[in-house]
Amino acid sequence: MTEYEIKKQICDIGKRIYDRGMVASNDGNISVKLNDNEFLCTPTGVSKGFMTPEYICKVDAEGKVLQAYEGFKPSSEIKMHMRVYKERPDVNSVVHAHPLYATSFAIAGIPLTEPIMPEAVIALGCVPIAEYGTPSTEEIPNAVSKYLPYYDAVLLENHGALAFSDSLLNAYHKMESVEFYARLLYQSKMLGGPKPLSDAQVQRLYEIRRQFGLKGKHPADLCPNKKAGLPSCHSCTSCGGSCGTGSTDDAALIAEITKKVLESLK
Ligand code: 13P
Repeated sequence: MTEYEIKKQICDIGKRIYDRGMVASNDGNISVKLNDNEFLCTPTGVSKGFMTPEYICKVDAEGKVLQAYEGFKPSSEIKMHMRVYKERPDVNSVVHAHPLYATSFAIAGIPLTEPIMPEAVIALGCVPIAEYGTPSTEEIPNAVSKYLPYYDAVLLENHGALAFSDSLLNAYHKMESVEFYARLLYQSKMLGGPKPLSDAQVQRLYEIRRQFGLKGKHPADLCPNKKAGLPSCHSCTSCGGSCGTGSTDDAALIAEITKKVLESLK
């Protein structure tokens, strides 16, 4: 793809995000890595539903402007995008949006950790919430950083969602998957609560993911519980953060407590 074609694709995805109600007004931002020192990104303060290729800015690995048409400046969240590229060399595109259901969970402080349908388990595993940070500051990159080695999507507390992948289309699809998962979880809670998949069913889905050799990070592959031979991810209850980052000792303890609590409820 030429640089111009990538700019056009950013506009197409921006329109899709806007048309699907995943952002309101001028919200959201998108970036694409061209090479180690050149990145394209959406400009700040414009509706992502009405962009043309001239809107798209080019920045370096520090987020400094390399090229921008008059009147356009890179997204105010460029530091967040750059942190993802810095810490995830496999990532070529980052999408930030405020989808209604995913953002509602981020506002309620509820991570997406219930294994309710196979596609979400395979594609995402679970989606933690990165601690609140003031937009445009280093606070959001710092909060997101600890989840980057373990997930391809995170919720941003009281703010929205962030998804990243090896291509723009795949990063956008991750965002769609997060929102669909959040929507299903919300609706099933309205219907009396979801009937989650069992541990054995989740493990089989993780195995399928491994067999397919799907790219990207996934808690099934990296959870310290799994490494310790304990139930991982959905059953460890600590996916709000420590599932990916806590010590194996912590994870083992939490898994043991969870098991005991579940047994006492039988
Ligand atoms: P920008 O328009 O600066 O990219 O910001 C939009 C947004 O959603 C901030 O969180």
